[in-house]
Amino acid sequence: MALGVLILAAFHPHLTAARIGRNIDLATDYNLLSGTSMACPHISMAAALLKASYPDWSPAAIQSALVTTANPLDNTNRPIREQDGSVASPLGIGSGHVDPNQALDPGLVYDASVQDLVNLVCSMNFTRNQTLTIIRSSYNCSNPTSDLNYPSFVALIRAAEIRRTLTRRFRRRVTNVRNGAATYKFTVEVPVNTTAVVEPQTLVFRKKNETKRYSLTIRYKADIEIQHREGAVIWTDQTGKYRVRSPIMVSAAADNFE
Ligand SMILES: *[C@@H]1O[C@H](CO)[C@@H](O)[C@H](O)[C@H]1NC(C)=O
Ligand SMILES: *[C@@H]1O[C@H](CO)[C@@H](O)[C@H](O)[C@H]1NC(C)=O
Ligand SMILES: *[C@@H]1O[C@H](CO)[C@@H](O)[C@H](O)[C@H]1NC(C)=O
Ligand SMILES: *[C@@H]1O[C@H](CO)[C@@H](O)[C@H](O)[C@H]1NC(C)=O
Ligand SMILES: *[C@@H]1O[C@H](CO)[C@@H](O)[C@H](O)[C@H]1NC(C)=O
Repeated sequence: MALGVLILAAFHPHLTAARIGRNIDLATDYNLLSGTSMACPHISMAAALLKASYPDWSPAAIQSALVTTANPLDNTNRPIREQDGSVASPLGIGSGHVDPNQALDPGLVYDASVQDLVNLVCSMNFTRNQTLTIIRSSYNCSNPTSDLNYPSFVALIRAAEIRRTLTRRFRRRVTNVRNGAATYKFTVEVPVNTTAVVEPQTLVFRKKNETKRYSLTIRYKADIEIQHREGAVIWTDQTGKYRVRSPIMVSAAADNFE
C-alpha cells in the first residue's frame, strides 16, 4: 500500500492537464495526480530506487523487500483501518504501508526465479497456447506448483470444503542479503481458530547470499461464517534490528462469496 497523493507520473500528452480561462487547454507529459491508481507509480518509484541500489536484485527480491518491511500500523501505532472503522485485512492493505528506507535493508528476501514463475503458471492447468501467451517462450512444465516462493501466505476455503478441518503447508526459501552471519527466530501471529507450525524454528546464516528453507503448516476449520482471518509470520534477527514480516490470510475463495 502506498500514498496516492500528488504523485508525479507520466501523463497522456493529448489530454487536458490544466486550463487557462475558458478555452486554453494545456497538455503535459507529466502531471501530479491523486487517487488509488497513483499508488502504482509511488510503488514503482520505490522499486526503481531499490533496483538502482541493488542492480543484481531480481524483481521478486525487490518486491519481497518492499512487502516484508511495510508497516501494518497507522501513524497512531494502531492497525490500519478501513473507512468504516474496521481493522483492515491484508486483502485491503497488503502487508501495510510501504517504507522505502526500510526496504533498502530488509535483512532477508524471498527470491523467485523465472522458472519459479513458470512453475506457478504451469499449476493453473491452462492449454498449451494459453500458457505460451503468458510465458512467451518455450517453457518446462515438469514441476508445476502453486506454492510460489512469495512473501505472504493465503489459505483459501472453497465452497466444497465448508465445515471440514483443513491443513495447508507452504514451503519457503529466504536469502540473507546482509553482509555477514545472522540468526533469525520466528514469531507467528496466529489467525483466530487456527494453529500454525513453523519448521525449523531458527534459521542460521553463516554468510551473505546464503539461502535457508522453512515450512509453515496451518490448520483451521473451514467455517462459512468467517470470511477471513489474518495473522503473520515474522522472522527477527538476534539484534532485533531486522523484522521480516509476511501476512497470513485464511479466506473464503471467490466461489464462496456468491
Ligand atoms: C490442475 O489439475 C490437477 C490434476 O488434475 C489438479 O489436481 C489441480 O487442482 C488443478 N489445478 C487448478 C488450479 O485447477
Ligand atoms: C495454438 O496456436 C497456434 C499458433 O497460433 C495455432 O496454429 C493452433 O491452432 C493453436 N492451437 C489450439 C488448440 O488452439
Ligand atoms: C525440465 O526441467 C527438469 C528439472 O526440473 C529437468 O530434469 C528436465 O530435463 C527439463 N526438461 C527439458 C526438456 O528441458
Ligand atoms: C472460533 O471458534 C469458536 C468455536 O467453534 C466459534 O464459536 C467462534 O465464533 C470462532 N471465532 C472466530 C473469529 O472464528
Ligand atoms: C551475492 O549474490 C549476488 C548476485 O548473485 C552477487 O552479485 C554478489 O557478489 C554475491 N555476494 C556475495 C558476498 O557472495
